Amino acid sequence: MSYSQFLNRFNFKRLRLRSPQRLILAIVCFLGTVFISWYVMAQQPVTLRMLMPAPDIPPFQPLVEAFEEQNPGIRVELVEGPNQTNLVEDLYTSAFLLGDSPYDLVNMDIVWTPKFAAAGWLMDLTDDVSSDELAQYSPLDVEGGRYEDRLYRLPVRSDVGLLYYRKDLLEQAGLQPPETFADLMQASKQLQDSGAVPWGYIWQGRQYEGLVAMFVEVLQGFNGFWVNPDTLEVGLDRPETVEAINFLKSTVQEGVSPPGVTTYQEEDTRRFFQSGQAAFLRSWPYVWTLANAEDSELRGKVGIQPMVHEPGAKAGACLGGWGIGISTSTAHREEALQAAKFFSSFEPQRDLIISEGYLPSIQSLFTDPKVVAEYSHFPSLQEVANNAVLRPPIAQYAQASDILQRYLSAALTNRMSPEDAMQSAAAETQRLLDARG
Ligand code: GLC
Repeated sequence: MSYSQFLNRFNFKRLRLRSPQRLILAIVCFLGTVFISWYVMAQQPVTLRMLMPAPDIPPFQPLVEAFEEQNPGIRVELVEGPNQTNLVEDLYTSAFLLGDSPYDLVNMDIVWTPKFAAAGWLMDLTDDVSSDELAQYSPLDVEGGRYEDRLYRLPVRSDVGLLYYRKDLLEQAGLQPPETFADLMQASKQLQDSGAVPWGYIWQGRQYEGLVAMFVEVLQGFNGFWVNPDTLEVGLDRPETVEAINFLKSTVQEGVSPPGVTTYQEEDTRRFFQSGQAAFLRSWPYVWTLANAEDSELRGKVGIQPMVHEPGAKAGACLGGWGIGISTSTAHREEALQAAKFFSSFEPQRDLIISEGYLPSIQSLFTDPKVVAEYSHFPSLQEVANNAVLRPPIAQYAQASDILQRYLSAALTNRMSPEDAMQSAAAETQRLLDARG
């Protein structure tokens, strides 16, 4: 029965009310109903949804619980996404393109900011974060959350590419940790020849975002570059790029890396290294925690250092990392901001870092006593992180990365010569940048 039917059936005559009184009673009843419904709704907690790569959910759950305990009116629902960062990005992209995205919070890889901000999918947080709040973060992590001088993402953790080595095997063989690409090859071959380890060096060679992150480090180690963010010059058809590819190809040709390396992502390479099959590994800081876990056969046997480079060149370190933005489609901006600020703040970040070995985005955490008690190498990683290189912060990053991934993979798997592949990659990238408008 509708509200007006109810009023009609109600026998007002019995109440002996005159018309104006009936009208007032009707209004009071109506307002009462509206108020009660509003009150009931207001008691329901607000739910904020955020999509994440599935493996990142269990480590993040304790932070969610801590946040919900402090904010009983807000729930955070973590939605499982694929493992690869670019696939998660695709899901966010289609949700935003379809309109009315179900996500209030956007769990963002550092390389997504320009594209998402330029598309208008993220709230501008510039005026919501004070300069004191921002000053606690590493400047590069903040930079990775900016687009055209506005802030769109709060950094929850940083990341930087590093070289892991088998400290025990190097010591036994009387070898120093390698500094150059040639040292890495030579030490690998010596350890392989002596039977200490079946393979030398392992890296991420599959066609995905991880390939590009690994490659920019080798490229920098050869003094090369991908896209100069200031001039938008493309460096892919320069001789340094071909040298960098030739180095990676040589690792397989010379038997230092297994042929399957061109199909590996981070976790494949970590398992390979952790099962004692390789002497060196390029990966992110999280590997340290797992390699030194109680059940790991490498516990206490692993060293960590910046990536190798050509003599006279600088070691390349790719800046990765994750942060949180707020979707423009959310109906709960205030609650979302509260959550984003909480997840990127000191205590929650410290808990996440201690349990997972991620790099902090809050600078003081690199030397925080509790962090250093678990990770004595963190103070020395701060400098590597501060000198790390952002992948080009351009709005067309996803397309530029896709171009590089395709041609790089074609060159590494011998489907194209490195020269031809990089000529084409450079031309396509240039066209993409020229079309920028
Ligand atoms: C890590 C990094 C991220 C990078 C990804 C590539 O998650 O933090 O920035 O894009 O690896 O696989």
